Amino acid sequence: MELGTAMRTILPSPTAKAASGEQNLERLISQLPIAAYICDRDGVIKSYNNPAVDLWGRAPPVGSTVERFCGSHQLCYPNGKIMPHERSPMAVGLRTRRAVLDQDVIIVRPDGSRRCAIANIVPLYDSAGRWDGAINCVLDVTARQHAILAQEEERRRVARELHDAVGQVLSSARLRLKRLLAEAGPKSRGAEVGDVLHLLDRALRELGAIAQDLRPQELDALGLESALRGLAADFMRRSRLRVWASVSSIRPALANGAALTMYRIAQEALANVERHAQATRVALSLGRHGGRVVLRVKDDGRGCPVARLEAEKPRSRGMGLRNMRERAQSCGGTLDMRSAPGAGTEIVCRLPAAAGGRHGR
Ligand SMILES: Nc1ncnc2c1ncn2[C@@H]1O[C@H](COP(=O)(O)OP(=O)(O)OP(=O)(O)O)[C@@H](O)[C@H]1O
Ligand SMILES: [Mg+2]
Repeated sequence: MELGTAMRTILPSPTAKAASGEQNLERLISQLPIAAYICDRDGVIKSYNNPAVDLWGRAPPVGSTVERFCGSHQLCYPNGKIMPHERSPMAVGLRTRRAVLDQDVIIVRPDGSRRCAIANIVPLYDSAGRWDGAINCVLDVTARQHAILAQEEERRRVARELHDAVGQVLSSARLRLKRLLAEAGPKSRGAEVGDVLHLLDRALRELGAIAQDLRPQELDALGLESALRGLAADFMRRSRLRVWASVSSIRPALANGAALTMYRIAQEALANVERHAQATRVALSLGRHGGRVVLRVKDDGRGCPVARLEAEKPRSRGMGLRNMRERAQSCGGTLDMRSAPGAGTEIVCRLPAAAGGRHGR
């Protein structure tokens, strides 16, 4: 992501490193507003900054050969399983001597609290150009992920309120009007009452659609597969595009939060097709491949320059793609966009399947 790219730019490259010594690097990390630390070739921690202490909830000993690769008390994968320090992104970066960017990890502090973070490892070289370890800049995204969860909870609450409060009042007004119409007979202003009934029917339909959009009922009741089929059918009716949906049963492959993530990503991908693609056909598919549940939304439209979009400043571009990616990452998954001018666009979201589901396919 942006942080990884920025790191490649600011850190010494094999050719430019002669000018920057170890002290310069340490001064640089002490001024960084995000957590950063340096390991030598064996993974021994050589230095770290104050944000790293805040993130880890501890200040590990510098130079210890016992605690290597990462200063956190414990690390976990996004699915909650423990990640041994020797399998951490830093350990991988040191083993391969390559940059390891945008890796989702969970940091467990000594007091048991957890932080969601994204690790970015870039190799370092000494002034003679020899490989000399790596730096890890770790972005704390806990607040961002809480915000996404809070937003879903708020949507759920508003959907409930719309249904239970406004919907019930409208339904009750509609019933009374119908009764009035039946009692008074068509002669006494029956046409006007009929019009009001139509208006109320329309309001109820609109309300249902808004509540559905805020919190798709089928998702809770029938699962992701039915919800996606419904979404594809609604989209076909609304957009008049030809939609081909191939949705295999994946149950019990995704936790509830991840199912909602998948649904929202499909919603945004379809909305983008309608708004930007000038397509005639869309294919939506869901299936399980190994340990992952994979959603694809592919159109035959005009395509778009993906590399240019990714390079644009966050403020100058839309939120849809970024939200999709953040949602996927918050569930330990990935989001890829493939496109070529004139050759359509494909969005691929891969989320880890919950343990206990079927494999293969
Ligand atoms: N299916 C597609 N076909 C062609 N271009 C696309 C497609 N999907 C996205 N794009 C391009 O990617 C850009 C970014 O999409 P994104 O969803 O992030 O923003 P947006 O749709 O413009 O605005 P927002 O989603 O915030 O309302 C779009 O403006 C469009 O140029
Ligand atoms: Mg969009």
